[in-house]
Amino acid sequence: MRSILVTGGAGYIGSHVCKALAQAGFQPVTYDSLIYGHEWAVNWGPLEVGELSDGDRLDQVMRKYGPEGIIHLAAFAYVGESVSNPLKYYKNNVGGTISLVESAHRNGVKKFVFSSTCATYGVPKNVPIVESEPPHPVNPYGASKLMVERVLADCAVAYGLEWCALRYFNAAGADPACRIGESHDPETHLIPLIIDVAKGVRPHITIFGNDYDTPDGTCIRDYIHVDDLADAHVRALERLGSSLPTIINLGTGRGYSVLEVIDSVQAVTNNPILVEVGARRAGDPARLVSDPSLALDALGWKAQYVEIGPIVDTAWRWHCRESPA
Ligand code: UFG
Repeated sequence: MRSILVTGGAGYIGSHVCKALAQAGFQPVTYDSLIYGHEWAVNWGPLEVGELSDGDRLDQVMRKYGPEGIIHLAAFAYVGESVSNPLKYYKNNVGGTISLVESAHRNGVKKFVFSSTCATYGVPKNVPIVESEPPHPVNPYGASKLMVERVLADCAVAYGLEWCALRYFNAAGADPACRIGESHDPETHLIPLIIDVAKGVRPHITIFGNDYDTPDGTCIRDYIHVDDLADAHVRALERLGSSLPTIINLGTGRGYSVLEVIDSVQAVTNNPILVEVGARRAGDPARLVSDPSLALDALGWKAQYVEIGPIVDTAWRWHCRESPA
């Protein structure tokens, strides 16, 4: 069977990537430290527990499965923490990736799909954002992802690595069958926090600033369903090679404000959401919306979920599921 090594396969996006790989006929092999990942999220292939920095362990797993390619999602991803503890982020996200690429090189694995982020753009001059927008990350998390893109570009020249970096906008939603979904600890993302308010787990949602230069004063983001993201990874993997662009945005091309997202959760759940307005959060650009044209041209990919309501609906059903996970 054609194996693909999925680092971070026990995480939110990684587990949906594993599901998509299995549906496409691959064997996803999850390599995860389980620091943030969950064993219960690994359902579509074997789990190998290990650190990115552990080259011997990586070699062992590569020899065991002989993967045809790597989808690399394992990373620390708390923007605020990356500001207060940048070395943790550079060590894991950049250093860890170098260790992974070294092992790939030692074991003759040439295909590499990388989980990147729109945080590489920082505060973009032009929105919707096209891939040619100059990257100016405003936090170490975004900078760490941009550094990895550079490492991969250099390894392509030196070692013939075939790579593609997918720059995600705001991942949201869950498996419609409720087998896997978003479960972070601590949770910082907007939709799960509002859902907690709808469930009565949190008293209110704080809007981080309502004085932005947007129609309702709150920040606008491009929320993309996690299954759509996962599908794009499989397409990228299958198309890696000389003609595939190396940097591709993954978003719907449509933005929703924080207030619109709150309204959507209220409509989907039928529960009141108590709202407070707080100060702006440092480093939050007013608008981040993708231009998804390149993904359509290069991957034949288009988001299936464009409206926020159905995305929130899958997240809500996941958060209300009966399983204890
Ligand atoms: N927000 C609030 N209140 C909250 C939480 C979030 O108003 O309690 C707002 C934020 O200010 C932002 C929007 O909701 O405008 C979305 O915030 P998230 O924290 O859910 O997502 P971000 O846009 O900050 O982060 C996402 C990814 C990061 C990535 C970043 C790129 O989760 O990994 O996009 O900017 F780095």
